Amino acid sequence: MCGIVGAVAQRDVAEILVEGLRRLEYRGYDSAGVAITDSATGQLTRVRRLGKVAALSDAVAETNPTGGTGIAHTRWATHGEPSEANAHPHMSGERIAVVHNGIIENHQMLREQLQARGYQFHSQTDTEVIAHWVDWELKQSSDLLEAFQRTVSQLEGAYGTVVMDKNQPERLIAARSGSPLVIGLGIGENFLASDQLALLNVTRRFIYLEEGDVADISRREVTIYNQEGTPVEREVHEASAQYDAADKGQYRHYMQKEIYEQPTALTNTMEGRLGSDHVIVDAIGNGASDILAKAQHIQIIACGTSYNAGMVARYWFESLAGVSCDVEIASEFRYRQFVTRPNSVLITLSQSGETADTLAALRLAKERGYMATMAICNVAGSSLVRESDLAFMTRAGAEIGVASTKAFTTQLSALLMLVTALGKMQGSIGRDQEREIVDALHHLPSSIEQALTFDKAIEQLAEDFADKHHSLFLGRGEFYPIAVEAALKLKEISYIHAEAYAAGELKHGPLALIDADMPVIVIAPNNELLEKLKSNIEEVRARGGQLYVFADQDAGFTPEEGMKIIAMPHVDDIIAPVFYTIPMQQLSYHVALIKGTDVDQPRNLAKAVTVE
Ligand code: BG6
Repeated sequence: MCGIVGAVAQRDVAEILVEGLRRLEYRGYDSAGVAITDSATGQLTRVRRLGKVAALSDAVAETNPTGGTGIAHTRWATHGEPSEANAHPHMSGERIAVVHNGIIENHQMLREQLQARGYQFHSQTDTEVIAHWVDWELKQSSDLLEAFQRTVSQLEGAYGTVVMDKNQPERLIAARSGSPLVIGLGIGENFLASDQLALLNVTRRFIYLEEGDVADISRREVTIYNQEGTPVEREVHEASAQYDAADKGQYRHYMQKEIYEQPTALTNTMEGRLGSDHVIVDAIGNGASDILAKAQHIQIIACGTSYNAGMVARYWFESLAGVSCDVEIASEFRYRQFVTRPNSVLITLSQSGETADTLAALRLAKERGYMATMAICNVAGSSLVRESDLAFMTRAGAEIGVASTKAFTTQLSALLMLVTALGKMQGSIGRDQEREIVDALHHLPSSIEQALTFDKAIEQLAEDFADKHHSLFLGRGEFYPIAVEAALKLKEISYIHAEAYAAGELKHGPLALIDADMPVIVIAPNNELLEKLKSNIEEVRARGGQLYVFADQDAGFTPEEGMKIIAMPHVDDIIAPVFYTIPMQQLSYHVALIKGTDVDQPRNLAKAVTVE
């Protein structure tokens, strides 16, 4: 997932651009670059480096480019290997510089047309066609905006792109078509980025471009044209980020910080949505109460950790609200011939709100007869939020660690509130049950605070996993998806192969894996499935497996040979899946620390996968 930063200012912007890229590092990338135009000298300077933004920062410090207009980019390779030549910005001649995020699907055809017109290409990227096409259009008309709009009309695919013309300094033109772009409004200066996080140190006022928008940005003016080319006004948003989420504070990693932020994040998620003993349905969004009252089926679509949150919610939709619910991975749903049930609501779950598969699934579902769509999301200006009928924001604050933590637990609390609201509207959840659920939710932040106190014990436990190559997580009922999420956490940040199974499935295969080198982690809350879970545990013990049982302290487990017990305080059944997530997050974090992996930016992964 690439990062874009732009600036049009009076002051030199090199450092602002590089700092913006630093704040976007969490999105995953392999190279970076900047291009800056100095209106005083007419000079356009480009600096690009393979590897980390730190390498680019050193190169920029050496070159020390002056100038108030610039664009910058972190590239996550899609077309052409990671290299300096493929790093953005890409140029046409000495005049036009472009950065781009996403995919130009017809780039090969455009490249051939441009080569036939005599253009030489210097990279393997799809992006370079934009630079040369703008240059070509400028030969027909000197108006940069027109040239850019005509160029954009040639492009097919999902992208966000920004162009800078050396001959027209103090001006940037940007287009959003499938990949997010926000404009940051300054005083006598304006900025641009693919994520507002990049600009929080220079402004808190943002305009989110809509699909098809083209923005003409100068120091004192921002003019936005919709896809019909008509000038439009877009709302200015005040960024709500109170703290600067890009700052780790006293924590070693963003992931660690975000694990410890969960009590606050959960408090924020529930703020204004719960009364002392009831759910405030209207707080979910206007029209929500009608939609929830009519909903006969819930289809949840998501990817990664967000998908795991959906799997937990399925148990709640059916057991608490009595409404059928399916959960499906977006990349599967969007390509199969699905059948839409009557009065179905499509819920997308996404931290970023920009995951390509989830967005594509939403757009498809909107054409296939879903009664309504809702995004449960963590980023206000994101595509999923804008394109859904309803949005339920998780308000977790920017999540920077690639491995999702606070986004997951706030998604669960949002889903539990939604289930309660739906059951209330349909009469399947009465006042007493609503009161019980809301009471449990009110206790959730303090319960999570309590779970976080097990960090030291889990840090010791992590030693047992550091030399292992495989692990098996077991759970039953709504704790099976928690086991799946725990396994995902361990593999994505420690690179240890981890698998999760519904404990009742052990005898249908996984039992063959059990030996002393296969640690088996069991999530064992004190509920109606506990006795069955205990016999599953015995199946493992009898075969010499090494067990780690995270059990309710009242569940009556006693340590035995080959079995370590982590006794957890009792919490209300309703919120137990959220509660047991915490030790699982801590376990994967500490194992990764021992393994010395890049906790916040695990290899091969990106925070938001906005391309297929
Ligand atoms: C992956 C992230 O790329 O995308 C995961 O690394 C995340 O943490 C998944 O769960 C889905 O992303 P999102 O933004 O749609 O929740």
